[in-house]
Amino acid sequence: MIIDADTGIDDAMAILYALKHPGIRAEGITTVFGNIPVERATDNSLRIVRLANAPYEVPVHPGASAPLVREPTGFAAEVHGTNGIGDVELPASEAKAQAEPAADFLIRKANELEGRLTLCALGRLTNVADALVRDPSLAGKLERIYVMGGAVRVPGNVTPVAEANIWGDPEAADIVFRSGAPITMVGLDVTMKTLLRQTDLDLLLRLCKPENRDIARFLNDSMRFYFDFYRESNSFFACAPLHDPLTVLAAVEPGVLRTEEMRIAVECESRLCAGMTVADLRRRPQAGSPVQVAADVDAELAVAKLLNVFL
Ligand code: BDR
Ligand code: CA
Repeated sequence: MIIDADTGIDDAMAILYALKHPGIRAEGITTVFGNIPVERATDNSLRIVRLANAPYEVPVHPGASAPLVREPTGFAAEVHGTNGIGDVELPASEAKAQAEPAADFLIRKANELEGRLTLCALGRLTNVADALVRDPSLAGKLERIYVMGGAVRVPGNVTPVAEANIWGDPEAADIVFRSGAPITMVGLDVTMKTLLRQTDLDLLLRLCKPENRDIARFLNDSMRFYFDFYRESNSFFACAPLHDPLTVLAAVEPGVLRTEEMRIAVECESRLCAGMTVADLRRRPQAGSPVQVAADVDAELAVAKLLNVFL
């Protein structure tokens, strides 16, 4: 698996989950602007890899710092903190970021692992689109792309209709969705139901393996920031949606989701609707490309499985 992330609070938890999962071999992390500038996403990823203490090397490859064609918009300090991980100071890593850029790494690994590479895209799709434009054959070499992004039957979280990762670079998302790669879209329809509560984190601190205590502490500290944001914006009580962790989970535990095949097109023209993932739900759909869209989730099971790797 390669994880492409704009390493904010929920990306960090997704990476920790992947690195602790015995059935996942993380080939590397590629970084992208989004929640924070790409330099910070790279630095956060290195710190998270150090925290996870994986028994093998996990290289971090820096990627895009801006959308493919649009002017960059701001970052999401109000959601993820100024440093992207809830303003928690994690020790710096001795490892350095790789010189090979994200898109080159994606293409190289897909060739090496032909048909066996899963890509989890947890931020703007800029790196993935960049790689697909440079090598369109990449689409046929990936086992599947799990995209955290979009919304079909629920509202957006940045505009009335758009989810942040798609809204942040609609042209990139459009390229990825049209590429012919097998895609599972894990959007707000399911991630907004998959809520982590403070009580889950309290339990994690009590029950985690001793070697995962620092991870449990980090999750407690960083999630505090995230909870505060969601409490103010959505009136949740000390809980927050696990967008990115659920997306990685979907790749190894498909049973937690119910997917429906839909044709999805990304709106790139409209001012009001830019970044909308338009599902053609007509009886004879024509617009867009076929995508497995996560329509429902067993949220309790998902949260339990996400925490279980640390116990
Ligand atoms: C997505 O946007 C980011 O804030 C999160 O990390 C997640 O990937 C949710 O819309
Ligand atoms: Ca993310």
